[in-house]
Amino acid sequence: MRIAPTGESLGAVVSEIDLSDPLAEADFNRILRALGEYGVLRFPGQAIDPAALRALSSRFGSLLAAKNTALSEPGMPDVSILSNVVENGRNIGLPDAGQDWHTDMTYSAVPGFVNVLVALRVPMRDGAPRGATEFTNTQAACADLPETLRRRLEGTTATHDLDKYWEHMRREKGSTRPPLTPAQRAALPPVVHPTLLTHPITGRPVIYVNPGFTTRINELPEAESDAVLAGLFEHILLPKYRYVHRWAVGDVLLWDHLGTWHYAVPDYRPDEHRLMKRCQVLADRIFDPDFQRRHLGLAA
Ligand code: SIN
Repeated sequence: MRIAPTGESLGAVVSEIDLSDPLAEADFNRILRALGEYGVLRFPGQAIDPAALRALSSRFGSLLAAKNTALSEPGMPDVSILSNVVENGRNIGLPDAGQDWHTDMTYSAVPGFVNVLVALRVPMRDGAPRGATEFTNTQAACADLPETLRRRLEGTTATHDLDKYWEHMRREKGSTRPPLTPAQRAALPPVVHPTLLTHPITGRPVIYVNPGFTTRINELPEAESDAVLAGLFEHILLPKYRYVHRWAVGDVLLWDHLGTWHYAVPDYRPDEHRLMKRCQVLADRIFDPDFQRRHLGLAA
């Protein structure tokens, strides 16, 4: 297996490995380290079916299972379908997943760790792919924080709320998703995470807030919290931390949610078809000292 960094703020291309076969432990451990180091790993030219996608993803942690199985692989609620393809008058997958900056599932007590997507159809126009996924590097952005701000944030916590993103998508992005029901809101109340997180793979600090879900830095007065969050969001989105992945059919992309934000660029028309299958891995194992010792060689 070869891991070639892109030389940009994020990204590496991993070749000479067939992801439809179970990963040897040594390969898994290298991939896990590379995920922390480079944030986004592209495995080009893979022919991987949903069962193999699920087997690969579940090496990193538990998988999120869809409640609405209409938009997932038949019989596999943990393999979701992201697509604008309409068949028999209905979307075969979620048409507008991730179409603004965010980090997956920070609104949940156990947030997302890794996203694993395989590209089956990529919209093309004038010979160029559309529907890229953009990333930004929150580890690198944290390393550049002014010392006074870093000290102000140390030990603070931030609140994350799914409803913030949901309503933003409905209000400003033309999403046809209905509002969250009271039952959905009650099942996913706002949660709190550290504002600065120690990355479980690299041990480096990460700014763990994002425009999608973060509503407040709890220990700061409201006006200061609003100003600090706006400043952090602007800082993290500086071009020097950014990376664009332009998809090709057969790409398997793994990305580390804990050290990045992402944004699915909606620059294609309804008749330009995009089809991805996705497993969402939860951060339920990566912080476990036994898992870290076994796969990263870290002392417990
Ligand atoms: C996501 O946010 O999980 C989807 C990203 C994409 O489709 O590019």
